Amino acid sequence: MSCCTAVRCRGRCNRVCLCRNAATVACTENHSESKYIDLEENLVQPTTLTLRRIDDFHHHFRVQPTLQQVLELLILYCGRAIVMPNLANAVLTAKQVIWYRNEFINILDWLAQGRSFMPLMTIAIQDNTTPEMVLAAHEAGAVAGKVYPLGVTTNSDNGLREFFTQNMNDVYRTMKDCGMKLLLHGEIDAERTLTTQREDAFLPIFERLVNENPDLKMVFEHVSTKNAVELIRQMGPNVAGTITAHHLVDTLNDVIGTGVAPHHMCMPVPKHYDDRDALVEAATSGNPKFFFGSDSAPHAKEHKECAHGKCGQFTVPHALCMLAEVFEGQGMLYRLEDFTSRFGANFYGLPLNEGTVTLEHVVWEVPPTYGDFVPPNAGKLLNWRIVST
Ligand code: NCD
Ligand code: ZN
Repeated sequence: MSCCTAVRCRGRCNRVCLCRNAATVACTENHSESKYIDLEENLVQPTTLTLRRIDDFHHHFRVQPTLQQVLELLILYCGRAIVMPNLANAVLTAKQVIWYRNEFINILDWLAQGRSFMPLMTIAIQDNTTPEMVLAAHEAGAVAGKVYPLGVTTNSDNGLREFFTQNMNDVYRTMKDCGMKLLLHGEIDAERTLTTQREDAFLPIFERLVNENPDLKMVFEHVSTKNAVELIRQMGPNVAGTITAHHLVDTLNDVIGTGVAPHHMCMPVPKHYDDRDALVEAATSGNPKFFFGSDSAPHAKEHKECAHGKCGQFTVPHALCMLAEVFEGQGMLYRLEDFTSRFGANFYGLPLNEGTVTLEHVVWEVPPTYGDFVPPNAGKLLNWRIVST
């Protein structure tokens, strides 16, 4: 039996285990390795799928009470998440990092009930961010700094105007020196540029950033175009890209193709079929430069279904189920765990999560709401459901 393959236990449990070395790793029921069969050889539909608890390298939690509602859903399958700093009052300083992390700790103390979850804190990098602020935030535990270019998305009114000032160059150098990652919302709001072109318009800035800061680890977030996929692929190992579940499923037609679908609206907007195909290929290719970041973003129903609806898809309840369906569709289920639980951790220099999450291959209907929030696929059927953690 080959390494890195999906295997199914023939014993009572009927589980699928995704193992680096299938010949030596037992399934969760510890049935002996002689009972495994190779899924690729047998083309058997698995009934359950067990993965290492996942990482989400891009998540919007907001503040209470939303923070708790999001955490309740996320900790069912996720061991760590990069916490986005774009609150109404952006997280900019060490003091705010400590305050925001304490908000998580207070809730997790009683919510987690044995499940481990670690928030990976970040600060927003704005024009007035200084190298001293970066260092202090790093000492307070921030692992990354996030750049929102001016005006491209939720709460980016104070986004970065100038990428290449002396101050910003000093900020990047300080981040590199202390090991903080630079996270980029890869779009710019240039003149006469449609929303569908904003990611392409950012690519020259991205190339210059990488060329001028070759030792700084950078993540191009929520990649949404074929062009960005290709550029990231060509770059060195310090450059990676996160991919959401919804950009693997949606095109622009799902947002405005048959009427306005506010719960599919997000930044960057899902684009052409060719772009989606390139993203699916990148996510399922086994290339460690691409890993999961959900960009799940809670906006209450009334802020989505209105004259100027907010951007962001609320995918936290079932992002993992969507991913399983996409990977299964490509015959690549055995690569899902790399994408969700290994490549990102390796890029960030983190140990892999402990524990597992099990999905069941069963058709279920996505509920119309989760509290105040409407998932993009409310009322639709999904093929995978989380059953245990
Ligand atoms: C995000 C949000 O709502 O905070 N919105 C979105 O469309 N993805 C911000 C962001 O990441 O763009
Ligand atoms: Zn986001």
